[in-house]
Amino acid sequence: MLPSRVKLVDVGPRDGLQNEKQPVPAATKIALVHMLQAAGLREIEVTSFVSPKWVPQMADNAEVMAGIQRQAGVRYSVLTPNLQGFEAAVKSHPTEIVVFGAASEAFSHKNINCSIAESIARFAPVVSAARAAGIYVRGAMSCTVGCPYEGEVPPQRVGYLAKLMKDIGVQHVGVADTIGVGTPRKIQAALEATLQHYALDDVSGHFHDTYGQALANTLASLELGIWQFDTSVAGLGGCPYAKGATGNVATEDVVYLLHGMGIDTGIDLDRLVDAGVFISEALGRQTSSRVARALLSKRAG
Ligand code: HMG
Ligand code: MG
Repeated sequence: MLPSRVKLVDVGPRDGLQNEKQPVPAATKIALVHMLQAAGLREIEVTSFVSPKWVPQMADNAEVMAGIQRQAGVRYSVLTPNLQGFEAAVKSHPTEIVVFGAASEAFSHKNINCSIAESIARFAPVVSAARAAGIYVRGAMSCTVGCPYEGEVPPQRVGYLAKLMKDIGVQHVGVADTIGVGTPRKIQAALEATLQHYALDDVSGHFHDTYGQALANTLASLELGIWQFDTSVAGLGGCPYAKGATGNVATEDVVYLLHGMGIDTGIDLDRLVDAGVFISEALGRQTSSRVARALLSKRAG
């Protein structure tokens, strides 16, 4: 049976914008967060506390966090790759932090400049500090079906990483198809490997849409009972260390799919489309969401 309710985490402000070459003012990012929460999003991945040399677009992390008018019941998460990032992040009072590792060694090196084992050793004190401070800890697992450097990634590698995350106290893990190469059965295998170590309520899907498979992969995940997904308004995004990978599946497209199947999200699709229009115009391009484009042409007509 499919879940009757789904939680979407909009990662647009972070995963979406981290890859933008043009500077996006902090005020624009803050306005986007405000529009997302007004549309009914209850969790927003706002920014990351990473090295500004590696990801210049996220250098305004503290300014963005400080500028948000927080709404009761909304969770604000940020990425923290190491203790230095965590210590900076904690001053901004995130609801949740995200440590991010990879199922492929090569991607781990390219993205966070260390091996999988070293990354876990770096995350361990971050997880302990966060949990001691009452901050929820999510783990992102990149390249769970394919890697831009190593090719296909077997589910055993995903299970291995999930176990390492579990052992250091990470409370929830996201199974990410970083480069959007996955197809439904492969995604299910990666999720099943993760479910060996985490309960169904503690696993989410994070699908980039490079090959147009993300909606099919979302449905395949729902079939396993997965009810939490990361999505990105207007389909923004990509990873600076995964060349050619496009954004996450558009939040609008997933909302349309879910509502069409009678699954509740608490999100107002019209207001979400407005948020997507706002950020797309700020970036000087058309939205990547097929649903938003269809609804906009209907509005225009
Ligand atoms: P490093 O160079 O190995 O770090 O980078 P280091 O500890 O050797 O320090 C070198 C310099 O970086 C020092 O500065 C540190 O202060 C500074 P210097 O003395 O040279 O002036 N530094 C920091 N500055 C600010 N914040 C920090 C920090 N840490 C060190 N937290 C590091 C290692 C992890 C920092 C680097 O590789 C990095 O920042 N990587 C981030 C890459 C990234 O953000 N990628 C995108 C997010 S992941 C993603 O998109 C995937 C996801 O969506 C899921 C999916 O789709 O797969 C989550
Ligand atoms: Mg991503």
